[in-house]
Amino acid sequence: MKHEFWERTIKEFSLDRDLADFKTWDVVRQIPIYSEHELVDDYYREVCQLLRSSPHQAEWEQVLSKGEPRRGHTDESYARALYKPAAGVSTTGFRLKSLHHVLSFEQLREKSILDYDCIVEFGAGIGDTAHTIFDRGYRGAYFIVDFPEIARISSYYLGGRAEVLHSVDDIPDYLPLNLLFIATWSLSEAPLELRYKVADKLSGADCLILFQYSFYGINNMEYFLEQWPSLTKSFYRIRPLRFHQSMGGSWYMVGMSPTS
Ligand SMILES: C[S@@+](CC[C@H](N)C(=O)[O-])C[C@H]1O[C@@H](n2cnc3c(N)ncnc32)[C@H](O)[C@@H]1O
Repeated sequence: MKHEFWERTIKEFSLDRDLADFKTWDVVRQIPIYSEHELVDDYYREVCQLLRSSPHQAEWEQVLSKGEPRRGHTDESYARALYKPAAGVSTTGFRLKSLHHVLSFEQLREKSILDYDCIVEFGAGIGDTAHTIFDRGYRGAYFIVDFPEIARISSYYLGGRAEVLHSVDDIPDYLPLNLLFIATWSLSEAPLELRYKVADKLSGADCLILFQYSFYGINNMEYFLEQWPSLTKSFYRIRPLRFHQSMGGSWYMVGMSPTS
C-alpha cells in the first residue's frame, strides 16, 4: 500500500544498483532534507540546546562528534559532507538531523532511548536515525518496515543490525512490552488505510512521530491529533520543528500509554 507520491518516487530506485556510493545518488540527494548542508545551522543550534538539557549530554556529544559513517560515501562526497560549526567540532547534516529527532524524543518523553527493549521504525530512509541510536549504544531488537527498494539501503548502511520487513503485516504479533515505534516523515506520507493497520499493530507502544501539517491533500494535523491517540490508546505531547516550513510545517508527536 503506497501513497501515489511514493508510487512515482519508488520507480527511480532500482533493486540492483551497487550501494557502495548510494549517498551520492541523485535520487537520494533530491529527497528534501537529504541534500548537503540543508538547514544545518538551524539543526546545530537546536541540537546544542537539546544536548545542554540532556541528562546524557556527554554520551550524546560523542555521538555528535562521531558524525555519520563513511559507508555510502566516496572520499570526495564525505569531505563535502563534513560540517564544522565551531572550533574542534566536526559532524554532518545527516547526523544532526537524526540527533535532533532522538534528543527531542528523549526530552518530550523524559526517558532514554536505551530504556527500550525493541524499536520498530516505519520508513527509515537510509537508516540514519537507527544508526545514531546504535551509535549511542542501543543493543535491543530493531525492526525497519520499508519498501524493498529503500530497505536494502538502510540494511546495507546498518550492516544488518536491523531486521528489515517489507510489510506491516510482517511485524511480529508478540513484541516486548517495552516497545518504541518511530516514524519520522514517513507514516505521514502513507495512505490512511495503512496507518490504521500500523495503529492496530503498535497500540500501547511509546512513539516518536514527525509529521508534515499536510501531505498531498491529507490533513495530518487533524489525523494525528484527533484519530491517532484514540486508535493507539495513547496520549501525546507535540512540538513544532520550527525551521521546516514546507508542507505547512513539521511537528514532533511523542506518544505514550496512560499507564506508563
Ligand atoms: C521522507 S522519507 C523519511 C526518512 C526518514 N524517516 C527521515 O526522517 O529522514 C520517507 C520514508 O518513508 C518510507 N515510506 C513511505 N511510504 C511508505 C509505505 N507506504 N510503506 C513503507 N514505507 C513507506 C519511504 O520509503 C522512506 O523511507
